[in-house]
Amino acid sequence: MSYYKIENLEQYFKHYKKSVREPRKFWGKIAEENFVWYQGWDKVFDFNMEESKFEWFLNGKLNIVKNCIDRHLAKRGDKTAIIFEPNNPDEPALEISYNELYNRVCKMANVLKEQGVKKGDRVCIYLPMIPELAISMLACARIGAVHSVIFAGFSSSAVSNRINDAGCNCVITSDGGFRGSRVIEIKSIIDEALESCNTVETVLVVNRTNSVVNMMEGRDKWLEPLLNQAIPNNVAQVMDAEDPLFILYTSGSTGQPKGMVHTTAGYMVQTGYTFKNVFDYQENDIFWCTADIGWITGHSYILYGPLLNGGTTVLFEGVPSFPNPGRFWDVIDKFKVNQFYTAPTALRSLMAEDYKFVNSHDLSSLRVIGSVGEPINEEAWHWYNDHVGKKKCPIVDTWWQTETGCILISPLPFITPTKPTYATLPLPGIQPVLMDDKRNEILDNQVDGSLCIKFPWPAMARTIWNNHDRYKETYFSQFPGKYFTGDRALRDEVGYYRITGREDDVVIVSGHNLGTAPIEDAINEHPAIAESAVVGFKHPIKGNDLYGYITLKMQGEYRDRENLKKEINEHISSHIGPIAKLGKIQFVESLPKTRSGKIMRRILRSIANGETKEFGDISTLINPEVLDSIIKNKE
Ligand code: PRX
Repeated sequence: MSYYKIENLEQYFKHYKKSVREPRKFWGKIAEENFVWYQGWDKVFDFNMEESKFEWFLNGKLNIVKNCIDRHLAKRGDKTAIIFEPNNPDEPALEISYNELYNRVCKMANVLKEQGVKKGDRVCIYLPMIPELAISMLACARIGAVHSVIFAGFSSSAVSNRINDAGCNCVITSDGGFRGSRVIEIKSIIDEALESCNTVETVLVVNRTNSVVNMMEGRDKWLEPLLNQAIPNNVAQVMDAEDPLFILYTSGSTGQPKGMVHTTAGYMVQTGYTFKNVFDYQENDIFWCTADIGWITGHSYILYGPLLNGGTTVLFEGVPSFPNPGRFWDVIDKFKVNQFYTAPTALRSLMAEDYKFVNSHDLSSLRVIGSVGEPINEEAWHWYNDHVGKKKCPIVDTWWQTETGCILISPLPFITPTKPTYATLPLPGIQPVLMDDKRNEILDNQVDGSLCIKFPWPAMARTIWNNHDRYKETYFSQFPGKYFTGDRALRDEVGYYRITGREDDVVIVSGHNLGTAPIEDAINEHPAIAESAVVGFKHPIKGNDLYGYITLKMQGEYRDRENLKKEINEHISSHIGPIAKLGKIQFVESLPKTRSGKIMRRILRSIANGETKEFGDISTLINPEVLDSIIKNKE
């Protein structure tokens, strides 16, 4: 019996049980039957909780790129691996077959080797969403170099900080990048970043925008001529199962970003497995994840997951609003996309637009639609279900993190009955638990607690680059013996999980624990409201009270703001209860967001508390200019 694909609910429960009772057999069989290895493993896993040390497929030898490309060539050589949709819809899309991808990755691997990049070296990739980004990552993995992709929207200081932390000796970048109606000067950001880096010897530059850039003699090289001379074959490096595959930075609640280290075999096995099951990927499907590859979602579900399954993945250079807010729906229609995976923040912004942008496109190819990155509020869930999925596509609300490597809690389409705002059930191999403040496991239903995972899984990050103590401290110290996610969640009577928000987004008001996410859900259902962020602020009597920052759909239309405030609170009261009322409401033009679309609540919390002198690191903010008016108009 194969465990790779779950076909029905009964089988889900059977596989789940097997994965908990006999994890070695479960993962051993999946790894053996669905991937190619140079040499098998001695042990499926080993771990030491005390040391926070986790190993999977010990002594197994493999190369993930052989699994993503080489093994497909005989059967799928001419099949499209990557569809590249440029920012400008008038520029033709590009379809890269598996054969072509093989040749392009091999050439790039040979260029890297010629430039002196060796197994174990760290390579920074700072590229827009163009094929060279995917090809560079695969080329690194092919030769055993560790890729550290930095989202090409980070500022030069954030880039230099990450390059220095990882000690990269090579950077792959481009002259510029297209984003909506703008051209981003990528190379000049790298130039500035490298002024404070001394480990980088080589900078390889892709020509994307034909921009005039500064090229430093001896260090900077145009990639194209080097690729033109490179041989289109390359023997993939033999990697140990636990050799690092990549570093990906994620912001911590304080201080330096954390360089999460993912290793080769466990990441490969579980990313491939979850992609197949969560999206019900079938051989000729076209899969589209709208994330940027610079985030974990892009690593696992634009690149590795689809290619490990011999799939066709869409790589989209643009933004949802260019040239108009119908772009997502246009791309789905154009390529007849079968699985579409996006973030609630994108849905909320598109919901505020005229229906004609969705309804004028044929979305009938869609079979599964997914959500990731933050809790999906009820209104957005229904809009997604009604207008995009046309009530026939299951919504997979996938919960996971940069640290987890792959999806851990999610419905399985056509198998798990969905429930708005619930990520539903853990995937096989994942053992979530909810913990109370006294570190006891919560067994009751509908009680909010700290979400932990009590058993290791193959794709988990193994450490923080150069800082194993911080890894131990952040993830394994609060609840000894368990991985602490930093999220709060509750479980319903059938065992479905609902993520209620980050641990630090819970506010205790008059002794009541209030998750801010469900309050925002309620507010966002008000027809006048586009988006909201609720944070706690100190209150002399209640301990804490709630402060709501709210953006309106049509700024001018609601002149009676005081009345609207009353309506909002009545709305919350009727959805959650009077305890959840907002003490203060401020209407703002837009909310401060990170480049990945997350609202930066930390700053909003400081402003609500009157602490406006020092905001710490705001380098990931995409719109720092909104802060001044928020502070000025504070309630
Ligand atoms: O709070 C959870 C939220 O995003 C956090 C992880 O962020 P990041 O490492 O940037 O990875 C995002 C993409 C996997 C989580 O701790 N989150 C992610 N997915 C969901 C979610 N919150 C609620 N529902 C989700 N489906």
